[in-house]
Amino acid sequence: MLIRKTKASDPKSSEITSHSAYLSRRKFMAASSAAIAGAGLWAASSSNALVSRDEPATNKGPDWLKRQIASASDTQWGKDESPAPYSAITNYNNFYEFGYDKDDPARYASKLITDPWSVKVEGACENPGTLSLEDILKGMPLEERIYRLRCVEAWSMVIPWIGFELGELLKRFKPLSSAKYVQFITLVDKQQMPEQRSRFALIDWPYREGLRMDEAMHPLTIMAVGLYGEVLPNQNGAPLRLVVPWKYGFKSIKSIVGIRFVEEQPKTTWSELAANEYGFYANVNPKVDHPRWSQASERRLPSGLLSANRIDTQMFNGYGEEVANLYSGMDLRKFY
Ligand code: MTE
Repeated sequence: MLIRKTKASDPKSSEITSHSAYLSRRKFMAASSAAIAGAGLWAASSSNALVSRDEPATNKGPDWLKRQIASASDTQWGKDESPAPYSAITNYNNFYEFGYDKDDPARYASKLITDPWSVKVEGACENPGTLSLEDILKGMPLEERIYRLRCVEAWSMVIPWIGFELGELLKRFKPLSSAKYVQFITLVDKQQMPEQRSRFALIDWPYREGLRMDEAMHPLTIMAVGLYGEVLPNQNGAPLRLVVPWKYGFKSIKSIVGIRFVEEQPKTTWSELAANEYGFYANVNPKVDHPRWSQASERRLPSGLLSANRIDTQMFNGYGEEVANLYSGMDLRKFY
């Protein structure tokens, strides 16, 4: 975000996938999945075969996950939005473990091993433990949520995630009443993540984020495992990534291996790095500027030289109706 200047590698407006084309593919996928399930042919199906995009499918991920993703149900979230094209969502990324340029994650994350994967859950809860991704997803209903992702760098994209409500997962561990916050931790693996080897890294790895308990339990908060109806690409945080649509994108931590229930507000990567620039709350707020970026408006990607596609930023990224009550009585200039 802010460590080095990015290249001029913004997606072009010609890359836009029409929403109606995407929706009709989703419909086709759902119909095909139902037909295959009815015929008892799940094992032979591949979700990738059912979705066409502006780039070839990566066909990555275990078969059980592909099947579960293909059975995700539709929701009304974002149905009136135009998702950014797959190529934009997967080639314009922030995942500093793989480099600081926007195209570094696409270039270097593809070899990250995401299967097997496990997540250690600890802290103030009755049922701590280490769970495999398969255990986490067992019986977990997946849904498509088309959400706006707003980066503090003042760009945004509409992204069709496949995921589940974080609250549904957290409940399983029976958090104690003393658990006031949840901390999330990304994988540390110097072999696989080149920037973690760097002697000049500014970030104190692992990348860490946190939410207040009520934010974590809010039904808008999801863990994503898929994108555009397919397994989540590594550069977007495979296999498990947080999505909190009313907060700046840096809260949406990728490739999670740890979840901790804690009593005090946990340390987070960006507020540790520059507390005057990045707060714990990080709610999208057009009235509170970042020292280097006005937050009043944003560039909705894809944009181009001829059309900047600049739009006004909405309070809570447009999700105020759902989440404003979480912050009633709080001074959001102080708790930025
Ligand atoms: N998670 C980890 N582990 N490492 C990161 O560098 N970058 C954050 C967030 N999650 C980041 C991360 C930032 S700054 C943003 S804007 C979003 O991921 C970008 O998500 P995207 O690349 O899928 O668009």
